[in-house]
Amino acid sequence: MDFFEPPLDRRPTSSSKWNRYAGRDVLPFWVADMDLPCAPFILEAVRERLEHPILGYTEPSEEINAAFIDWAAETLDWIVEPEWLVWIPGVVPGFNLAARAIAARGARLVIPTPAYHPFLRVPEHASLDAADSPLVLAGDRWEMDFDHLAAIMPDAAGLLFCNPQNPTGRVYEKHELETLAALALEHDTVLISDEIHCGIVLDPTCRHRSVAALDPAVANLTISLFAATKTYNFAGLNAAIAVIPDATLRERFSAERKGLVSNISPLAYAATLAAYRDDSDWVDKLNVFLAQNERLVRAAVERSNVLSMTPVEGTYLGWIDARAIDPDDPTAFFEAHGLGFSPGEDFGGRGFVRFNFACSRSLLERGIERLEAAVRSV
Ligand SMILES: Cc1ncc(COP(=O)(O)O)c(C=O)c1O
Repeated sequence: MDFFEPPLDRRPTSSSKWNRYAGRDVLPFWVADMDLPCAPFILEAVRERLEHPILGYTEPSEEINAAFIDWAAETLDWIVEPEWLVWIPGVVPGFNLAARAIAARGARLVIPTPAYHPFLRVPEHASLDAADSPLVLAGDRWEMDFDHLAAIMPDAAGLLFCNPQNPTGRVYEKHELETLAALALEHDTVLISDEIHCGIVLDPTCRHRSVAALDPAVANLTISLFAATKTYNFAGLNAAIAVIPDATLRERFSAERKGLVSNISPLAYAATLAAYRDDSDWVDKLNVFLAQNERLVRAAVERSNVLSMTPVEGTYLGWIDARAIDPDDPTAFFEAHGLGFSPGEDFGGRGFVRFNFACSRSLLERGIERLEAAVRSV
């Protein structure tokens, strides 16, 4: 499959991913953007916007709300009202605003771990105590520990989680979301649901579901965060949407952003509008391609006999247990073998590394050769 060949050289673009190892022979498989071009129709929409030479302040409008609402109805089976939408320039500002907006409701913020590393700094930013709830390995998948959650949710202002889950690649099943929602309703805990990876579902037996779509009572206790930026690969343009059905929560969220968090930019607007209007098969093809990459990575991990990795249901991130190589910092070992992974410790998973496999097949194959050479050297 040469869908995304030849690999593009990102070094002239001051790419965060490639800058980290500038001047070193280390292939970067860390930060979660794809070494693949955006969909052509996204680029076309941005180019078309540039035909107008004024790039002034831009507001969300009826057309972009309608595009998102139609997408949510079709993809999530969730009827979203326009007044629930708050457009923001990123999911990271979104979950930080959400935590500040709910801080008065309780003493702590519950976070299932390992978790996307900026989650782990949210409690401090919002003056809340962090209450981690480790995911448990059940067979070949990571699951929330509902008994543990039930014990720590009383007295919590909220629970911040991510679905599909970064870094373990889980796409939570309906019954898991129902159990979580029941706990939230029982303890009146706000759910902050980061669904930025919802377009990347690799396992055809899995389907992304939004916890808020389960039931209006759950929706009223949920701040859901979406963006088209991961699926279509325009993360650098910065655009996201918070969906907040409860008016009081929404007012608090909007009050927190004042003077700090701007609207989305004109180019982010154009790209996001094109993404939510997309009715092509581009994302389906992307997911097939990424699923093949995932199988190549998982096969190499299995052959290694020292590493292990659960199947990635969603996201393009492999969560590799490398404790047998180095229980503290396997990242340094892999860097010495020319591989730049995200350190598991940043996510609350010491001894693990996260492998972003969203790149051209030829780059991935070079990475896998290095992985195999690294493991042989142990
Ligand atoms: C779970 C999760 N949330 C949020 C983000 C980043 O969001 P944004 O760039 O919109 O702030 C990422 C990026 O890797 C992510 O994995």
